[in-house]
Amino acid sequence: MRIFQHVTDIGDLSAALAEAQEVKRNRFAWQNLGHNKTALLIFFNNSLRTRLSTQKAAMNLGMNVIVLDVNQGAWKLETERGVIMDGDKSEHLLEAIPVMASYCDIIGVRSFARFENRADDYEERILNQFIQYSGRPVFFMESATVHPLQAFADLITIEENWKPSNASKPKVVMTWAPHPKALPQAVPNSFAEWMLAADVDFVITHPEGYELDPQFVGSARVEYDQMKAFEGADFVYAKNWSCPGVTRPEDYGKVLDDYHKMMNWTVDAAHMAVTNNAAFLHCLPVRRNMIVTDDVIESPRSLVIPEAANREISAQVVLKRMLESL
Ligand code: CP
Repeated sequence: MRIFQHVTDIGDLSAALAEAQEVKRNRFAWQNLGHNKTALLIFFNNSLRTRLSTQKAAMNLGMNVIVLDVNQGAWKLETERGVIMDGDKSEHLLEAIPVMASYCDIIGVRSFARFENRADDYEERILNQFIQYSGRPVFFMESATVHPLQAFADLITIEENWKPSNASKPKVVMTWAPHPKALPQAVPNSFAEWMLAADVDFVITHPEGYELDPQFVGSARVEYDQMKAFEGADFVYAKNWSCPGVTRPEDYGKVLDDYHKMMNWTVDAAHMAVTNNAAFLHCLPVRRNMIVTDDVIESPRSLVIPEAANREISAQVVLKRMLESL
């Protein structure tokens, strides 16, 4: 595997999930694979889980790891070609990428949406430059539009916790929830993309105006009545996202309504009561009593900690496959 961006990059999902369980049973079995190989993890944005779980996964495989916080200690990078660099940016990404690539074998990059221009974000201009100019396998550690390591960990968690009863497949509901700030669509985009590829009954619920990009949600069922969407759910996946600008590009990246008016979308006990004793998922970090109430996230049905722990496993499968392709 040379690029990890979309669900299609992982190939057969059943095989990937089986491999995840194999890795989980014996995560140190492939120490020789990464011997004398270096992973470079580049962060343009903050992280707790991605930073730690990906480092841990690389170390499990015997790799050396270099972590670069671009905004702390590195030269400020210009990303646009043709700019006269007379401002505060001392280095261009077009030199920085091949230089960084010369010190490593595999590159992971985190670079969030900037919300300046929808087309720039949805064209993945930063990550695509890494793919084009590094000559190394590149995996997305949350980009402007996708967070595949998270979605893979989410799917692993759902598979581990699905106990078939009458239904042949679980009902998975992804719900928008309120947040005071404008957040990117990367997590919901990837979650939708991966759920559509998986064997689940998938429903998305959000207020009108927050329709996700069709390239990720395809023909997924959208239910604007949140309580109706929750009925019979086996898994509830909560996440906020800002306006994707699908129907009104001028609204891209905006919070459409004051969050105080949207607090009835917070996932609370009343919402969970209409589900099929659903498990609760969130990628974290989460703002309590905005996205989800204390009692729901602390309940025995909350899977947020094992979900975060599975980030190590999803990262290890991806790094393992990239090492195998070197
Ligand atoms: N879920 C997730 O990616 O967490 P971090 O932003 O802390 O890495």
